[in-house]
Amino acid sequence: MNLNAGIAKTGKLSLLVVGLAVLSTLILVAGPADAAKCLPTPWDEIGPFYRPNAPVRSSIGKGYLLSGTVRSSRDCSPISGARIEIWQTGPGGQYDDAHRATLFADRRGRYRIETVAPPGYGQRPSHIHLLVDAKGFEGLITQHYPKHGKKKASFDLVLVPEWKDDEKPGGRVDEVIRPGKTRPGKH
Ligand SMILES: [Fe+2]
Repeated sequence: MNLNAGIAKTGKLSLLVVGLAVLSTLILVAGPADAAKCLPTPWDEIGPFYRPNAPVRSSIGKGYLLSGTVRSSRDCSPISGARIEIWQTGPGGQYDDAHRATLFADRRGRYRIETVAPPGYGQRPSHIHLLVDAKGFEGLITQHYPKHGKKKASFDLVLVPEWKDDEKPGGRVDEVIRPGKTRPGKH
């Protein structure tokens, strides 16, 4: 191998090493797992039983612990102070004031509520309704579906950053839950 060929080969090798290092860094910073984890949480029906102004509390029952982190879909960063409203049926299968709560995500975006796994009814599996609102993000209305026999679950709530006024109307929760906007039937 002459000197020029050797230098060229070394150069290619260096480029390969640098390329691999950059790739590794990218995977470490925003790996595929993180990207998948921060897909926006899908919307689900609000149903007819939402009531505003649920009391602020972290326990509405016993036997099922629901927790998770509120995050931004932009970069997975936690959203501190997000307001989360929860409503569900009690053990008897009825919606009532005892099974509603308002929570606030802590400084790391985490939330936690102690509750009871609601029974399923009719065609509907066991489910817990959640409404999430945070400054600078589109509101989210969704549902968590406890798995049969499980006593806890982790359910991250990933919000989409709100568009600026001149880009697109924001999908604020307050607009969504105005009378006439709900779709009774699935609750
Ligand atoms: Fe429901």
